[in-house]
Order: sequence, then structure tokens, then C-alpha cells
Amino acid sequence: MSNLLEVKNLTVGFKVRDSIFTAVEDASFEINKNETMALVGESGSGKSVSAMSILQLLPEGKTIFSKDSSIKFNHSEILEMSNKQLQSIRGKKISMIFQEPMTSLNPYHRVGN
Ligand SMILES: Nc1ncnc2c1ncn2[C@@H]1O[C@H](COP(=O)(O)OP(=O)(O)O)[C@@H](O)[C@H]1O
Ligand SMILES: [Mg+2]
Repeated sequence: MSNLLEVKNLTVGFKVRDSIFTAVEDASFEINKNETMALVGESGSGKSVSAMSILQLLPEGKTIFSKDSSIKFNHSEILEMSNKQLQSIRGKKISMIFQEPMTSLNPYHRVGN
């Protein structure tokens, strides 16, 4: 089975002063073509950080991914991509609707577009 998105052992930490705060610990999941997946959890459990990791939208220099963390899109490792490669995926192959849909969606455009 070929996975469109494969997240493996995702562990995300943030440098906070002298220590590291772990926001996501060892998360693994996969999404195949035409599949929908819902990530459910209480506030602060790491849903947004997981999603932002996929598009590499977390603060550079402050975010630490564990060595065994892997996020593969179409079998390519996102955690090893250059900014240029990421730009070709962000908003084109993978899109994100941020929290507060009234401000993140444009009422003049249909969602499908
Ligand atoms: N840039 C950051 N620096 C430090 N801590 C962060 C940062 N972003 C998120 N966190 C922390 O990571 C944890 C998970 O947050 P988040 O993924 O936003 O949770 P949620 O599941 O509600 O979307 C929270 O404790 C949050 O405070
Ligand atoms: Mg959130």
C-alpha cells in the first residue's frame, strides 16, 4: 500500500529558556489517497504542532525534531527538504485551514477551489 502521508515517531520539542518542552511525543499515523483522518485530543495535546510540523511552519531554531522523527509525503522526507522544495508543496499539494475559519477562509471563493 502506498501512503500519501506517513508520519512516524514524530517527537517535537521547543527550546524554552534552558530546557526543552516536548509538545508531541512519538506520534505515528498515515493517510492514504482518498482517506480522511481526524486527529482528536484535548486542548494543548499537540494537534496543531503535529499539523504545523507537516508543513514545517514551526519557529526555526526553536523547534527540535527527534532523530527518528519522519514525515514522508509521497515517499519524500519532509524533514530533509529545502525551503524551495517546501514552497512547492505548501498550499499546492498540502493546504491548511487554520483555526478561526471566518478569517482563514475567503468568503468570495468556494472551499473546493
Ligand atoms: N512555539 C511554541 N513554543 C513553545 N511551546 C509551544 C509552541 N507551540 C505550541 N507549544 C505548546 O505545545 C503544546 C501543544 O500545543 P498545540 O499543538 O497547539 O495543542 P492543540 O492540540 O490544542 O492544537 C502546548 O502545551 C503549547 O503550549
Ligand atoms: Mg490547535
